[in-house]
Amino acid sequence: MSATVLVGAQWGDEGKGKAIDRIAPDTDIVIRYQGGNNAGHTVFADGVKLGLHLIPSSILHARPVPMLGDGVVIDPEALFAEIDALAAHGIDCSRLKISGNAHLTMPYHRALDGVIERHLGRAQLGTTKKGIGPTYADKAARIGIRVQDLLDVKIFEQKLEINVREKNAVLSKIYNRMPLDGKQILAQYAAFAERLGPHIADTGRLVHDALTAGQAVLFEGAQGTLLDIDHGTYPFVTSSSPAAGGACTGTGIGPRFIDRVVGICKAYTTRVGAGPFPTELLDEVGDHLGAVGAEFGVTTGRKRRCGWLDAVLLRYAARLNSLSDLFLTKLDVLSGLETVRIATAYVCDGQRTEVFPANQTLFHHAEPVYEELPGWSDDLSSAKKFGDLPANAQRFVERVEELGGVPIRWIGVGPGRDETIER
Ligand code: GDP
Ligand code: IMO
Ligand code: MG
Repeated sequence: MSATVLVGAQWGDEGKGKAIDRIAPDTDIVIRYQGGNNAGHTVFADGVKLGLHLIPSSILHARPVPMLGDGVVIDPEALFAEIDALAAHGIDCSRLKISGNAHLTMPYHRALDGVIERHLGRAQLGTTKKGIGPTYADKAARIGIRVQDLLDVKIFEQKLEINVREKNAVLSKIYNRMPLDGKQILAQYAAFAERLGPHIADTGRLVHDALTAGQAVLFEGAQGTLLDIDHGTYPFVTSSSPAAGGACTGTGIGPRFIDRVVGICKAYTTRVGAGPFPTELLDEVGDHLGAVGAEFGVTTGRKRRCGWLDAVLLRYAARLNSLSDLFLTKLDVLSGLETVRIATAYVCDGQRTEVFPANQTLFHHAEPVYEELPGWSDDLSSAKKFGDLPANAQRFVERVEELGGVPIRWIGVGPGRDETIER
């Protein structure tokens, strides 16, 4: 039995796509457990560069069956656009299985995501505007429409009617927007139902049976620990549960199955959208990381904010997810800097702390305490084993391991599948 959760240890975009693509060939199922097409995962292999949003990042491999679990939210229009784009690359998604319990993102969710952000003004979160928050809000309010509702036209029509009535009142009376045409949505989603039908499956049972039969399953997290709705930097978070615990609720698997949790962490930190970021660099070093690391969003094209690695947050991610291993990505991006820094602690309101402050206001005021290490200038991309790395790069990796308290099993030295050192 082997059940591995792969989780972003920071604010997303850690290189989860690359890590899944690297680890997936030996697994039987790869299942996404939360989030929707707000995710943007890059897979770079055999000369092909793919930007994935809903399709699991294992799609280039023949063995694992790709699945979308109960905790995922699905915008069928976006899903089919992605499947068609992959087909144009010769990549077949016909084996994709989708939980009937997953919720559907509807046109009114996308409309609301935009107007709510505008309404928040200076307090806006900088969402991806894919309708993710409003979809999860309806799920929690128990008025959401699920994938399985597409299989029963009457039920679907009833639920849609209730929602369109309410959403149109909100859109027109509160936000001064044009109401949406319920009939048009019904026709559009009836067409989606035809295409989605063959993919709908009892994914929870399939995963359970696979694990019981001794097969290997990878639970693919989107976003990252600090974007978790319960444990992240609320309210500057997404609306789902990216932390490893979400893998159980988001797929219907009991916690005793999970035997490994791999955290993905960049050798520095990035964040997209608003919210606190203690180690953010607004200087030429930040520009260097952004330029060398090509830090632009896969989903929205937005420039990512960049800063030093934060070991306080790494320890928090290690605790919250009970990380067993770490995949440290983008070590190559630090090449060329005279010195590199790691935040080892914060000073919050005059008090030094080595743990993530439970109080939001304290975190907003956290001043990082840095440790400075000597840099290196060599190109790392051809390094195949740990010993090939320059001594200062080895020292950096070992220090991250010590400060985070989690063994670093893989090190990324370039975006390609093979640009990875395994220890
Ligand atoms: P995800 O959302 O966690 O899957 O990450 P993204 O794909 O949004 O962003 C990570 C970016 O870093 C992508 O452009 C990857 O191709 C790239 N990447 C991943 N690992 C490495 C690495 O070790 N070195 C370099 N230079 N790029 C990497
Ligand atoms: P991957 O899977 C980085 C951020 C948004 C915004 C906040 C809420 O590629 O790591 P949402 O649209 O989810 O309601 O936006 O979360 N965000 C991400 N940041 N990587 C992602 O996904 C993200 N998905 C959402 O920028 O700050
Ligand atoms: Mg991403």
